[in-house]
Amino acid sequence: MSNKDKNIIKIHNLNKEFVVNKNPLRVLSDINLEIKEGEFVTIVGHSGCGKSTLLKIMCGLVDYEDGTVERNGHPVEGPGPNCGMVFQDHRLLPWLKIKDNVGFGLKNISKEEKEKTVLSHLKMVGLEGFENSYPAQLSGGMSQRAAIARGLANNPTILLLDEPFGALDALTRIQMQKEILEIQKKEKTTMVMVTHDIDEAIYLGDRIVVMSARPGEIKEIIETDPVESKKRGSVKFAEYKKKIYAYFFEDSDVDYEIEYVI
Ligand SMILES: Nc1ncnc2c1ncn2[C@@H]1O[C@H](COP(=O)(O)OP(=O)(O)OP(=O)(O)O)[C@@H](O)[C@H]1O
Ligand SMILES: [Mg+2]
Repeated sequence: MSNKDKNIIKIHNLNKEFVVNKNPLRVLSDINLEIKEGEFVTIVGHSGCGKSTLLKIMCGLVDYEDGTVERNGHPVEGPGPNCGMVFQDHRLLPWLKIKDNVGFGLKNISKEEKEKTVLSHLKMVGLEGFENSYPAQLSGGMSQRAAIARGLANNPTILLLDEPFGALDALTRIQMQKEILEIQKKEKTTMVMVTHDIDEAIYLGDRIVVMSARPGEIKEIIETDPVESKKRGSVKFAEYKKKIYAYFFEDSDVDYEIEYVI
């Protein structure tokens, strides 16, 4: 089996319940998902359907009672250095400068090497010159970019991204999408990204996981065409979009039909 075909994440028959005010709340239902090394998988679904919970389970931050979840062939029992996560809320430490936030997880390297890594990643996300600022001195979008830099600086094998571009303006977002794809190809990182932006899910995902409303179950996994999915104006792109919208709106009066002219 070549590396390309190695399943780096394996989730089988996963169910997850939280207990809220002594009542069980079923959040994830019978999730089966295998992710190949070097793959970019995007996840879309209604708010509250369990997307963040699923990522946190993959990361080892939330436990699960039912089913199996493996990373690199081992059951997930907690966070590990090879698996990074960029959280929905950026979670920068307010008392540390941006450069120290980004370098936070960098261990066992020289001071010079650390500084070089931090600065190159800050440059990558367009935050050059802000290394000595504190999180409170940045805008929402800048904080999110700092969190992305922190996630990438550790060069993890797997990077889980929970709506990392949610606070960015549309133009920066498109730029960041291009850059994250370039990084992913260059570093061969396995990336799993939750997003509410359907275009983003199509553009970035080798496969798109479409989830139902809570309790979240996988409705479909759409494999995208590697060339057509990178052309936002292509007919294929519009077809993917229409298919995904149909899952969310087919029982509503929202007009999700996408008209396109060839
Ligand atoms: N620690 C927790 N304790 C109890 N309930 C929780 C906990 N974390 C999440 N939930 C509940 O689980 C459900 C799924 O939450 P989750 O954050 O995974 O949704 P999501 O799909 O990421 O939503 P969004 O798109 O709004 O971020 C929600 O109903 C939420 O209230
Ligand atoms: Mg979420």
